[in-house]
Order: sequence, then structure tokens, then C-alpha cells
Amino acid sequence: MNFKIAVIPGDGIGPEIVGTSLKVLDKIAEKYDHVFDYTEVLAGGAAIDACDTPLPQETVDICLASDAVLLGALGGPKWDNVPGDKRPEAGLLALRKSLGLYANLRPAILFDELKASCPLKPEIIGNGLDIMVVRELTGGIYFGEKGRDGENAAWDIMKYTRPEVLRIARKAFDIAMKRNKKVTNVDKANVLEVSRFWRSCVEEVAKDYPEVELNHLYVDNAAMQLVINPKQFDVIVTGNLFGDILSDEASMITGSIGMLPSASMADGKFGMFEPIHGSAPDIANQNKANPIATIVSVAMMLRYSLDLTKEANAIDAAVQKTLAQGYRTGDIFSDGMTLVGTIEMGQKIIENL
Ligand code: IPM
Ligand code: MG
Repeated sequence: MNFKIAVIPGDGIGPEIVGTSLKVLDKIAEKYDHVFDYTEVLAGGAAIDACDTPLPQETVDICLASDAVLLGALGGPKWDNVPGDKRPEAGLLALRKSLGLYANLRPAILFDELKASCPLKPEIIGNGLDIMVVRELTGGIYFGEKGRDGENAAWDIMKYTRPEVLRIARKAFDIAMKRNKKVTNVDKANVLEVSRFWRSCVEEVAKDYPEVELNHLYVDNAAMQLVINPKQFDVIVTGNLFGDILSDEASMITGSIGMLPSASMADGKFGMFEPIHGSAPDIANQNKANPIATIVSVAMMLRYSLDLTKEANAIDAAVQKTLAQGYRTGDIFSDGMTLVGTIEMGQKIIENL
């Protein structure tokens, strides 16, 4: 089959991890007889440098004309002093919004092979962790009205509309139906009106899913529960800001933020796939970055957007096998393992495909 993929390497380690991941995808193409037609486009800092905007319209157009988008990472200290609405991150938010990607799925899975990199005690992680964070991605405080009164004050409004909450809740319940049928809604309903509203919308959707068990946690408690009893979680559904924070936490309990993929989905099959970590400018261009989060993001792309389940499973299995063989980038290194760089990690995974 032929597929069109828009590729946004981005900034910092972005080009390295994306380059390595595309080699893995090339191997899939060869082995399973597909054609992946890549179109590289600019966003973030690279786009600011080349065309003075973090998100050129051409990028949006090409993404929309593709079957899926693969993104590395955006941002870096070089653009720290540009105005807020021109920052690389603003380009990422605008991209999510213009592609309608309201559902961000962030699976936090602890591979057996990485138990030594997990900061939690063995009795807490038991036989492993498998949590799906479903983060609302195009609303809430990230996109609310914002303003500044000179040196005196500044504000960002956290607002959610009913359709926004209903659709993300539905996504979470649909996903839970294919997993362990448990949804934990995370909000701050003891303080925020927007959270009380959010919660009532989630409860409304829950009525259509009698088989799914729903519980609610305040975000502060959820942050704590993730480290003291992470096994209670199956699917976590939450708003944009809380999801941003909790998914970083969930990633660390699986060993390293360098391991976690994500899928940002609209209603159909179209999606954008990106590691949850940032552009790590401190290790850019040193062949040190862990490419696994991006490689498994490619697997998510095959599974969710291109319906290539067998191929997606093959990538996941190859990653697991490579870890079992003891190959580790610096972020997941532990005694007795073999330290490898970005490129070598990619090569080992390709050999295992
Ligand atoms: C993420 C990132 C982004 C976010 C930044 C880079 C704008 O932290 O994808 O989690 O906050 O959504
Ligand atoms: Mg984040």
C-alpha cells in the first residue's frame, strides 16, 4: 500500500530521532511491501529561522493532505526570547489546533527489561505497569483567552465547552472498553468551576458505558497515587494542562521520558505521532538521544492511522527484543548493559525486525 506521511523533524534532537525512526519505517516498507511517501515540512524553531513563523501555512496544508504526521520535537533556548505567540511551542499548539487533534493518547508501559530504570520500588511496580493517559489537547487553559496588564498582572483562562469534554470522555471510554474497562477522571473539582463542569460531562458520557468503572481523583492526589499505587490505573482522562503534567510523571515511572510515544488524534484515522519528550538541546547532535519514543510513535502511527497492525506489532517486538539484548541509550542505562547511541539503537532495532 501507498501512504503519505508528513514529517516534521523539528529542533534539538528532533532531526536525529526522526531520521533514525524513518530508517525503521523504511525497513518496514521493504519487508512488508509498502510505500511511505515522506514530505518534510517545517515547524517550531526551524520554521522561525527559515520563514519567521513557527507554523507556515504550507506545513498545515501538507499535513492535512497526508495520511499521518510524524513529529520529532520543537523548541530550544535559541528562541526563548521571542514573543510568546511566536515561540516554537506556539507553532506546535497551532498545529494541533488546525489539524483538529483533540485527543492525545499517551501510553505509559513499563517494559520488563527496564524495571531497573524505574525509580519505584519493585513491590510497587509488581508485574509491570500499563497506563493510558488520555489528555484533552486543543482546549482548556492552553487555548483560553490570555492577557497581560503591563507589569501588573497576567492571566490565562481555563474554559471547557460541553462538546469538548464529551468528545474526549467518549474517546477515553472507547479506549477503556478495549482495555481493562476502568476510567479515572482527573480534575480539580474541589476548587475549580471548570472542573465541576468537566466532571459532570464525564459522568454523562459514563452512562453510555455501563461496563466501564469510573472513578474521580483530584489532580494533586492523582500525582501522588501515580507513585504510591500506579497499578490502580487503566485509563486516565484529563484536561490539557493536568494531562501535560501527569504524562511526564507517568513516563518517568516507566523508566525514562525517552521511552514514551504519543498519538494526537482527530475523529477519524488521521493523527500526528510524536514522542512526549522535548527537544533536549543539551544533548542535540551528539548521537546520545534515545530514539525509542519516536520509533514506538511510528508503531502507533501504523496502528492508529494506517491500519497496519502486524507491522506495528513487529516494531514493538523489535524494540523489546533490542532491550532484552541489553542495548541501552544513556537515559535508560544500568549496570551490565551495553551503552549505544541514537544511530546504533536504531540499527539494532532494524536488525531485530
Ligand atoms: C507536550 C509538551 C508541549 C505541551 C509543549 C512543548 C508545548 O510539553 O507535548 O507535552 O505542553 O503540550
Ligand atoms: Mg509536556
